[in-house]
Amino acid sequence: MFTVLILGGTSEAYQLAEALHGSGDSGGCGRRVISSLAGRTAQPRLPAGEYRIGGFGGSDGLVAYLHRESIDAVVDATHPFAGQMRWHAATACAAAGVPLLRLERPAWQAGPGDRWSEVDDWPTAVAQLAAAPPARRVLLALGRQELAPFAALDGVHFLIRSVDPPDPMPPFASAELLLARGPFTLADERELLVRHAIDTIVCKNSGGDATDAKLAAARELGVRVLMRRRPPQPDSPTVATVAAAAQWIAARAGN
Ligand SMILES: NC(=O)c1ccc[n+]([C@@H]2O[C@H](COP(=O)([O-])OP(=O)(O)OC[C@H]3O[C@@H](n4cnc5c(N)ncnc54)[C@H](OP(=O)(O)O)[C@@H]3O)[C@@H](O)[C@H]2O)c1
Repeated sequence: MFTVLILGGTSEAYQLAEALHGSGDSGGCGRRVISSLAGRTAQPRLPAGEYRIGGFGGSDGLVAYLHRESIDAVVDATHPFAGQMRWHAATACAAAGVPLLRLERPAWQAGPGDRWSEVDDWPTAVAQLAAAPPARRVLLALGRQELAPFAALDGVHFLIRSVDPPDPMPPFASAELLLARGPFTLADERELLVRHAIDTIVCKNSGGDATDAKLAAARELGVRVLMRRRPPQPDSPTVATVAAAAQWIAARAGN
């Protein structure tokens, strides 16, 4: 049976698993579909069909897994800011001779009215927050494990939005935690920015429409955005949509 491994953790990975899982049999069209989650969130949403949770143990571990489960194709649908898994997937698939496709949603682009500054790392974002005119009330919309560099900034109140609570919480002088999972609406984001008198948003260029409403709200309200650029990625064939990834698999599976 043609076996596909989806490296997941994104809405596209869930959608692809659902599309491939088909109409309720063990994989649809004679395919076996296994989704892989890193296991970062306490109560992850479970994908359609088969799944596994936890790291593979580097690229060598992934090579062993590809052989053990007789994987015929891999779709790396990990998050645009998951910096490592893509390299392990590229190395492992090359070593095991398994075709690899990267599924990555397009990045957001600044448009008229946006007040974005793009940064490559968080220390640069911290320096920009401190530079004149300094930020006073900042929405941090980034991973809960990435907060520490911001805790050193005095004189700034942070509204920290994350899916799970930071553990441990870095020692911010002034911060408030908002636990929430997207998608977020424009009306809600507008209300949030106004209620907390946010002057700057710090976020990553994740792309997609689940969390882009904050950018539209920021544009409307003239709020500044410090946008982190995406990390580099291997030279793997890449598609932007779930439909294109499903087609790629169908072509390899011969159906
Ligand atoms: N980084 C983000 O901003 C972000 C946002 C939303 C969702 N996510 C999702 O959260 C997961 C972890 O993110 P990260 O930034 O820590 O990723 P990462 O830097 O690319 O990966 C770190 C390690 O976590 C394991 N891993 C990552 N994705 C995995 C997967 N789908 N299945 C099994 N193991 C996986 C691998 O461990 P081994 O080396 O042991 O195999 C990998 O070396 C990813 O799956 C990603 O799609 C990340």
